Amino acid sequence: MKNSYSNIFSFNKKNLSKTIKNLKNGGVAGLPTETVYGLGGNAYSKTSVEKIFKLKRRPKFNPLIIHYYNIKRAAGDVVVNKNLIKLYKRLCPGPITFILKKKSSSKITSIACAKLDTVAIRFPKHKVIKNLLKNIDFPLAMPSANISTNLSPTKARDVYDEFKRKLKLIIDGGECEIGIESTVIDLTSEPRILRPGFISKDFIEKILRKNVKISLKSKKVQSPGMMKKHYSPGIPVKINQKKHDGRSAFVYIGKKHENKKDYFSLSKKLDLNEAALNLYKVLRLIKKKGYKKIQISKIPNFGTGIAINDRLKRAANFK
Ligand code: TXA
Ligand code: MG
Repeated sequence: MKNSYSNIFSFNKKNLSKTIKNLKNGGVAGLPTETVYGLGGNAYSKTSVEKIFKLKRRPKFNPLIIHYYNIKRAAGDVVVNKNLIKLYKRLCPGPITFILKKKSSSKITSIACAKLDTVAIRFPKHKVIKNLLKNIDFPLAMPSANISTNLSPTKARDVYDEFKRKLKLIIDGGECEIGIESTVIDLTSEPRILRPGFISKDFIEKILRKNVKISLKSKKVQSPGMMKKHYSPGIPVKINQKKHDGRSAFVYIGKKHENKKDYFSLSKKLDLNEAALNLYKVLRLIKKKGYKKIQISKIPNFGTGIAINDRLKRAANFK
């Protein structure tokens, strides 16, 4: 069944087959995951991966995450190590991405990894993407489905708003459960978090039974998530704001300003996971309403708040 947007399709057997066929033929598709929507293509195909970079207008030096059904399928492409196994057992499928050494026999097209000798891999949990990955014999290179530096999409319609009719196939898997991108952890040597996310440092430390650093600068890669300007709603964002300037949209946590014009709460019950879920949704809504600037009050810097603040700091670099 088609949606009112002719390139957004609901998830059923027929559309699953259509997507598989499209991906096998070197096409790309907008696909749901539990974190954000992705723009997926065959990671073993240079043609497919080139399409992703082009559509997203993504700089070639920014590597993509490769998505697999399970660790068994990933083992041909990456060097599996003990830390990976420990984290995989507890957290996968789920919202975490691992950086590992690439095997020299790996079939991943080198441009997907920006020609690095490391690969980012993830095992997503959303039933649509899991079902799809199970039924194809290649992994999916899949960055978030937004034009480079924009906000990541959390529903099918957001993907449409990014690419309009340039993207022929979007599968509607409903609203994403988490709403911000996966935690990225480098496991090539001592574990290091490169991008904070829903899976927290504390939780990872408990599983690995050791301290883990958060290091947002990678020596090897200028990752998009690490680039200074990113996750931008396209209008100026000011963080750590105390007082409403009388014009801008004011984003906060709690219900102190309930029903007041220009005020937007990320979570009335002060829940940081809910705030993360609402973050991109609220920023997109504010932009659509025509505000020219966004003020954001201080967000607590623990748990998922660390991931929210990471995204907001970069959003605030929009000039
Ligand atoms: O939740 C997510 O991770 C979503 C969904 C669609 O899976 N994907 C996503 O992909 O956020 P993307 O491309 O927007 O972000 C990938 C992040 C970037 O910060 C990228 O630089 C980093 O992973 N990355 C990829 N390969 C890397 C590598 N070899 N070394 C270090 N960072 C890497
Ligand atoms: Mg992205």
